[in-house]
Amino acid sequence: MRSNVHRPSGFGLKVRAAALAVSCATVVAASSTAQAQTTNSSAQPQATSSAAQLQFPQNTAVTNISGFGDPLGGIKVEAALGINGDLQTFATGQLNFMEVDSLPELGPIFNSRSCGACHSQPAIGGSGEFINEVRVRNNTAGGPVHIFAADNILRAGPQTQGSLVIFPNGLESTPLGCQITAPGCSQSACQVEEAMRTTFATTLGLCDTTSAAFASGANCTAERQATPLFGFGLVEAVANGTFDAIAAAQPAAIRGTVKRVTELGATRVARFGWKDDVATLRGFAADAYLNEVGVTSPDAPTERSTCALNQTQFGVLLDASDDPEDTIDSNGRADIDRFADFQRALAPPPQLQQNASAQAGHTLFQNIGCAGCHVETITTASNPASFIPRTTGGVPISNTLNTILSSNTFHPFGDFLLHDMGSLGDGITSGAAGPTMMRTAPLWGVRAKSRLLHDGRAEDVAEAIAFHDGQAAAARAAFQALSPANQQKVLDFINTI
Ligand code: HEC
Ligand code: HEC
Repeated sequence: MRSNVHRPSGFGLKVRAAALAVSCATVVAASSTAQAQTTNSSAQPQATSSAAQLQFPQNTAVTNISGFGDPLGGIKVEAALGINGDLQTFATGQLNFMEVDSLPELGPIFNSRSCGACHSQPAIGGSGEFINEVRVRNNTAGGPVHIFAADNILRAGPQTQGSLVIFPNGLESTPLGCQITAPGCSQSACQVEEAMRTTFATTLGLCDTTSAAFASGANCTAERQATPLFGFGLVEAVANGTFDAIAAAQPAAIRGTVKRVTELGATRVARFGWKDDVATLRGFAADAYLNEVGVTSPDAPTERSTCALNQTQFGVLLDASDDPEDTIDSNGRADIDRFADFQRALAPPPQLQQNASAQAGHTLFQNIGCAGCHVETITTASNPASFIPRTTGGVPISNTLNTILSSNTFHPFGDFLLHDMGSLGDGITSGAAGPTMMRTAPLWGVRAKSRLLHDGRAEDVAEAIAFHDGQAAAARAAFQALSPANQQKVLDFINTI
């Protein structure tokens, strides 16, 4: 089953334009429409064409998404008792996560202006609704292609009305100047440099790891959807050794690979990102602030480029020499710490009550081998504060939050390990993660996503299963060998977790 065959033409560019242009409010509104479609399409066990997805939903039930984006249950209990410290930290972090950055801090090259712009389905902290970034196979520097550039977003210039000059400093054009990924884009100085740095060209095709061109080393691109961050404080609080134990317990045919990285002064098991690149929420926050928004921080103090340094367009300074742009406040926290605070306190997606069909589906899910990688239950360390990094200003997590995160048993339905997924691989090499290796996507809350898999190529769960290959080929075949009625039970189960 080849991904490229299934992708509607123009998919990447159109949805990327939409994703980067919409405001948070639009994303939330649009996602409830997508819910109805997802609910409907999951009733169809075989992969369906996108035309079929657009038909009027036969089943108008909207998936229950109540509780997504809430703080951890323990924090709500504290607040009910009048202990508000952790709730305050969560709330402040949530505001920072949604804050929109502007020039000259924004950029000089960036993908969006706020964390929340790409992580908002179906609530702040959630997934991206569309494709949010592009990576290039031969880009040895790693990281995403930066779609926008600060020397490009004011290209609309001073606006006049009759003889009157209004907006003399120019306007940001929609969405934010032309996109480097749009074939018609006349690239700015920063974009020309970015294309060179990342070896990106609009003529590159999508990576197909099974093709002869890929085998002969041809360059290509991989698309990326943003993942939901719900429950990630619990994932961060899992001891390294627990991941080793999960891998050791897996049958050899599906055994996952544990990837270790050196991050914030320690060797840790990486668990975040589609290729397991990052181990801590502070680490990811600094990386995302620099690479997605173009803001330097105490942990990542160097801009990706000096292409717009000290340059002014239409009276607007594009980039100042003020690094790090994100600084530590009197509470010992920079923005990146606040992003980590918010994510660390996000509750897992709430599970729904299971009817008889979903309960039967749970057993089938285990019997056909899904649960081998989509591990149901993991327990956090007994004292996660001993390895969760302090803030950039040296503040540890609170004792109360540490208590909530300690020895906490949760149900992600994912092992956070890398697996060889064969033809589903993205073609990118990232440390120990080879071109066909991907991290198991946790299935908790998957009912709230309108697109699935690393590049959003699947529109519903059945379609996502159909793309499983490599170590997951046997489980896919076992699912497809079930009767339609039993397949539906598995889907019903997944819609509750
Ligand atoms: C332009 C869109 C975009 C913006 C803006 C963005 N992200 Fe992301 N985010 C992504 C994508 C795409 C991924 C998946 C990346 C990968 O693994 O290849 C991701 C993944 C993540 C992950 C890892 C999730 C996992 O499943 O392991 C974290 C944590 C994260 N982002 C935090 C942030 C924070 C904090 C900000 C703000 C500083 C932010 N993101 C801004 C697109 C975005
Ligand atoms: C060998 C490990 C493995 C097995 C077995 C496995 N999966 Fe997966 N699954 C993965 C990986 C890895 C991904 C992420 C793939 C990607 O996007 O590149 C994934 C992704 C998914 C997704 C998409 C989730 C999202 O948020 O995009 C669904 C749904 C899913 N799996 C369901 C199943 C079901 C149902 C079964 C049993 C029939 C199953 N998987 C068996 C490893 C596995």
